[in-house]
Amino acid sequence: MSFGVESLAREAVRRLKPYDPGHDIVALREQHAEHGLLELGGNESHWGASGDVEIALAATMTDLCRYPDPLGTRLKRALAAHYDHPSAGIVLGNGSHELLMQIGQAFLGPDAGLVVSRYAFAVYPIAAAAVGAPVTVAPALPADAEMALGHDPEAMLAAIGPDTRLVCLANPNNPTGTWWRAAQLEDFLARLPRHVVCVVDEAYAEYVTDPAWRSAIELLPRFPRLLVTRTFSKIHGLAALRVGVALAAPSLVGLIERLRESFNVNQMGLAAAEAALADRAHVDRVCQANAEQRDRLAAALRLRGLSVGPTQGNFLLVRFGPRCAEIDAGLLRQGVVVRPMRGYGLAEHLRITVGRPEDSERLLTALDAVLATVGPDTV
Ligand SMILES: Cc1ncc(COP(=O)(O)O)c(C=O)c1O
Repeated sequence: MSFGVESLAREAVRRLKPYDPGHDIVALREQHAEHGLLELGGNESHWGASGDVEIALAATMTDLCRYPDPLGTRLKRALAAHYDHPSAGIVLGNGSHELLMQIGQAFLGPDAGLVVSRYAFAVYPIAAAAVGAPVTVAPALPADAEMALGHDPEAMLAAIGPDTRLVCLANPNNPTGTWWRAAQLEDFLARLPRHVVCVVDEAYAEYVTDPAWRSAIELLPRFPRLLVTRTFSKIHGLAALRVGVALAAPSLVGLIERLRESFNVNQMGLAAAEAALADRAHVDRVCQANAEQRDRLAAALRLRGLSVGPTQGNFLLVRFGPRCAEIDAGLLRQGVVVRPMRGYGLAEHLRITVGRPEDSERLLTALDAVLATVGPDTV
């Protein structure tokens, strides 16, 4: 028997691959220091955080020798009021990514599997793999459907078996941008068998402008096995501080609490999130600005003959065709970073974060230059 460290690790860990950020962003920033790098790969907010965050952060600088509040009491109280949901049914994470991993630890294992749709957020299968759980991937809606490549509720329900314990979906979904309307989500939840917990990941909820969409938070009182996740990384503009939230029935949240590291959210994150949540006007402004730019950018890309999927998030999934990798490389040379989709099995697509008008302008100028060199017959 070999005693190399690799062989000593659990099999589930040996099979894992480390996170692939798509690009070496630090190297690219150094390379493009003169004109600045345009970062449209991470679905971060180009409108930044509320001005109130800075003031709240300054106040946290005095007590750096103390641990943060291990219970996140103030933030949870604010979230409870904001969502009209009991504090005991809220758990905080170092980003919602951490919470998704803990949800996997709580419910999944070699005999307790995960069901996701094709083109679901990449973290869900990672959470399953980390605990050696099988993953069943339901086929997505076809590319010519109204919600191209989006989640198919019928296929997901059909993929659920006796050993399924968890179903994860994002609404709106990353990377497709597609969404389920209220009736569809409610019908799906009502038809889930009782041995299955469902995560509805609402990382992009605040960007939604379709009035037919509803937050699953409203459905929590009716569905005891439903977990809803939110994040401060997107519309609140606090990705650097890592604050995520999960809401569910207190008994379900109690299970995740047992796995939570006691000081998982630091005091800057707690204070900044509280200030960001209180500034609803900022969220409304960014939502509106994003929706305007989302429509404009999609229209401009379609004018260039590109196919752009429907989206309610702060990003577009764009099909560039067989020379997609070349186009991506060309954009990079011009200091524009977007997200390649090879890892999702969408080698002809790039995901582009919606930025401010000047960001879209720079992107389109760079893209036109690249398309001129790559040739008109590529898309
Ligand atoms: C659908 C979805 N869920 C969760 C996350 C993770 O967000 P965070 O860990 O920053 O809260 C992301 C990040 O891109 C996402 O796209």
